[in-house]
Amino acid sequence: MDIIVKCVCSIVQLQYTVQIRFTEGSGKMRDVYLDNAATSFPKAPGVGEAIKNFVEKSATNINRSGYNVGFTAEELVFETREMICDLVNFTKTENIIFTVNATTGLNILIKGVLKPGDHCLVSSVEHNAVMRPLNQISQIGVECTRIPCDSKGKLDVATIPKLIKSNTKAIIMTHASNVTGTILPLKEVGQICAKSDLYFIVDGSQTLGSLPINFTDAGIHALAFTGHKSLLGPQGIGGFVVSPILADKIEPLICGGTGSLSEREEQPMILPDKFEAGTINLPGIAGLHQALKFIMQTGIDAIRLHELELTQALLGGLKALPNIRIIGSSEMKERTSLISIDCLKHDNADVAYTLQKEYGIRTRCGLHCAPAAHKTVDTFPQGTIRFSPGYFNTKKEMDYTISSLQKILTEPL
Ligand SMILES: Cc1ncc(COP(=O)(O)O)c(C=O)c1O
Repeated sequence: MDIIVKCVCSIVQLQYTVQIRFTEGSGKMRDVYLDNAATSFPKAPGVGEAIKNFVEKSATNINRSGYNVGFTAEELVFETREMICDLVNFTKTENIIFTVNATTGLNILIKGVLKPGDHCLVSSVEHNAVMRPLNQISQIGVECTRIPCDSKGKLDVATIPKLIKSNTKAIIMTHASNVTGTILPLKEVGQICAKSDLYFIVDGSQTLGSLPINFTDAGIHALAFTGHKSLLGPQGIGGFVVSPILADKIEPLICGGTGSLSEREEQPMILPDKFEAGTINLPGIAGLHQALKFIMQTGIDAIRLHELELTQALLGGLKALPNIRIIGSSEMKERTSLISIDCLKHDNADVAYTLQKEYGIRTRCGLHCAPAAHKTVDTFPQGTIRFSPGYFNTKKEMDYTISSLQKILTEPL
């Protein structure tokens, strides 16, 4: 019989209730969530309540209601834009564009920037959120070259200059791979873009909220983000930060009502309206607003420190286990809190299934929507088992994960 034990963890000044389930008798711990790279769980404290409050008490649309309560939604959205600005060291709130996720933001940016005859560079570890739009526009004559990363997923910036051609317009790069966990060198690539007059478009899906990103210092022109991963918010809200120069150059992908300049039938060119046609996800923004408040109060450095400690503990334990290949950089400072492994004598899917079924440990097994990254680190087509601890995991859960995995790997085949 399962007993639910409620324990109150004090994590960096904040009291947060986590439910850990123990199975009586066997002593096995249940429900260890290690799939934060897919979507974070739990969300930041108060996120659910903020969404509920918005829907139940103040659900109004911005720019559209003439009655007073409508301004609450406007303030909420404005403050959320402000918090994202603060998070990435940027000042123009109107250049924070909300979409439903990072994928939509990346589509707007990629299809807005690249036109027939243009060429771009991408890292060889990109997610399909980048590769599929690029593949689509290759049919209208947009060319793309991959910057090769090594077997640990590291990108050597020295390889970039010789890949730049006369028609190269942009470098599109993830800040960190969702397969290898290896962090790519933002600032150095930003410098190359500045020198070669290229747009620098960054996919921050895996890092915004858990790693510092300095939009201005890194010379980024656009940064796509998603609310439901390390930003600790709900699904269905994401967006991008865009520099005024790039915002001016790209056409919106979707046109429609904005609640502004309604006397005209043309899409307004003012920001953020240019890229925010239709009703935006206000309950999602209410949740993201709360999550950002939590992140700001806790501090990115404290979040990074805790996640690094967990990753180090997990990595240390994994290194001692037999018959696995650990993917990604051996330098902790080059890693996000994500470790992929490839089992050499077991089937990855079997191991991930047993971890969940027998030990209650939820990981993610497969290709993680990033076949290019797997090809780079030689884990294609079998994929990997991905462990991605988040801010609310504990060292004890890492120890339990290692001991559970050890049992599975040392059981007779
Ligand atoms: C590196 C990377 N880019 C983009 C995405 C897409 O994020 P979303 O599904 O929120 O659009 C993901 C999600 O897995 C990701 O890991």
